[in-house]
Parts: sequence; structure tokens; C-alpha cells
Amino acid sequence: MEFTEKEISPLASLDVWEDDVLERYPEPNQPAKAKEEFRNYTDSDRQNTVREFYRLNHTYQTYDFVKQKQAKFLKFDKKEMNIWEAFNFLNTLVDDSDPDTELDQFQHLLQTSEAIRLDGHPDWFVLTGLLHDMGKVLCLFGEPQWAVVGDTFPVGCKHSDKIVFPEFFEANPDSKDERYNTKYGVYEPNCGLRNVDMSWGHDEYIYQLVKDHLPEEALYPLRYHSFYSQHREHAYEHLMDAHDHEMFKWVDKFNPYDLYTKAPVKPNWEEIKPYYENLLAKYLPATLKF
Ligand SMILES: [Fe+2]
Ligand SMILES: [Fe+2]
Repeated sequence: MEFTEKEISPLASLDVWEDDVLERYPEPNQPAKAKEEFRNYTDSDRQNTVREFYRLNHTYQTYDFVKQKQAKFLKFDKKEMNIWEAFNFLNTLVDDSDPDTELDQFQHLLQTSEAIRLDGHPDWFVLTGLLHDMGKVLCLFGEPQWAVVGDTFPVGCKHSDKIVFPEFFEANPDSKDERYNTKYGVYEPNCGLRNVDMSWGHDEYIYQLVKDHLPEEALYPLRYHSFYSQHREHAYEHLMDAHDHEMFKWVDKFNPYDLYTKAPVKPNWEEIKPYYENLLAKYLPATLKF
């Protein structure tokens, strides 16, 4: 399927999706985010682009679409880079938003990992923070925004009405296909999420990219950090097994670091660089295949 430029990039910036998630799940006991922090959009412009983004996401993320993207990207034959080249590559992802207020992608990763490190968590959890949005490089391979970011959800079974903008699933052909539109669809009750295909995006991609190198407690947050309808709304427990529930403790622990650590002060990179060089060398091979 061919998409127009508007359909590929409905949002001025990938961060608009994250701002929307933050509005939906504001930090407990904090004053709601001040309106002026939302860059230059008027509220209704921003809301319209977010709606359009979800409309596209919910319409086109079908079971077949996910299988096609898996076949295309899980061959990892696009680009080979060491991790520093990969961070630089990710940072070439710039969009229309105001560069003064925008943190680059690496700063978001570093702020997330630093908050985790300063709370004294294990080093692999710090690394989870540093890597979790690396999958956004999919945008640089020409993928539409709604196939890179956005809340993720299981495909191949009924869409939960706990997913944001559930009404847009009406236009998704899977919702009319009896193989896919029942509670369990192609799955068995409590089959475990390892047997479930998620809508395609940066979570699944980074998980697949590093799954041989990190402990499972790190892999769950990488793979499911955008699965808000489960980790916030508990809408898919009928597909999860006991092991998933155990591991989702780490998804829950991770999410506040992702959403709530957008500090205006940049970490002092020169000071912490040796720590991160050691951390990356400890877990990851010299180069990664994207
Ligand atoms: Fe993310
Ligand atoms: Fe993130």
C-alpha cells in the first residue's frame, strides 16, 4: 500500500504522541502539564493531528500488516552500526517541531537511563532506559509514524475498547474478519504474550534487535513499554500467563521513567560517558545489525 506524505507523517513530531500519552496518564500528585509547554500548537490543531495519527494507526495495523513488517525488518539486513553510530543515526531523526524546546532522541534516552541509574537500579535496567526508543530508527527507514510509535496492542484478536480511540478500529478490516475479531482470535486463553503478535512499532523492533544480549526483565519493558492498554488498563490479561505477570512488574517499574523524566537540565555527558561506555561494552556486541 502506498501512503501520501500526510499519511506517513500526520504528527509534526513523534513527541506529539508522547505528549498525548502524558496528558492521558499524568504524573500522580503533580500539577497537570502547563499548556504553554506544548510548543506552538493550538490545542485543537494538536488534537486533530493526534486523532488523525490514531485513525491511521488503528485502520492499517492489521494482522497481515504486522506479518509483512516482521518479514521486512526482522531480517536485520538494512544497516550495520556500532552502538554510537546507531545513537547518532537516531539523532538524525528531526522533524518540524521547535528545535529549541525539543530534546533530541539521545537526550530522552539518557535522561531516562540517568533517572534509573540515580535510583540505584541494576545496570541492565539502566541499559533498558538507554535503548528503549532506539527502534524509532524505523522512521529513518521510511516507515510511517503510526507504524513506529503509538500505543501498541495485540493483533489477531478483538481490539479492546480500553485502547485509546477504539472507534477507529471500525475501519480496520480485522474487526470484520471472524478469524481475528473474537476475544481470543488466533490465540489460546492465557497462551502467554510470547505467542501473541503486537501491532508493529519501535518496541517490538528494539526487543528483537537486542533479545540475545539482555536479561528477560530488561526485554519486557523494551517490548511492551507502549502497550498501555495492558500495563495501565489491564485489558489483555486473558492472553497473559503467570510468567508475563511476573515480568510486567518491570514494565510497570519502567513506565514512569519513560513518561516523567523529561527534565529541562541535560545530564553532564562528559562526566557519565565512561560509565555508559562500560555498560554498553558489558552487554552489547561491537556492532548491531539493523
Ligand atoms: Fe518508546
Ligand atoms: Fe521513551
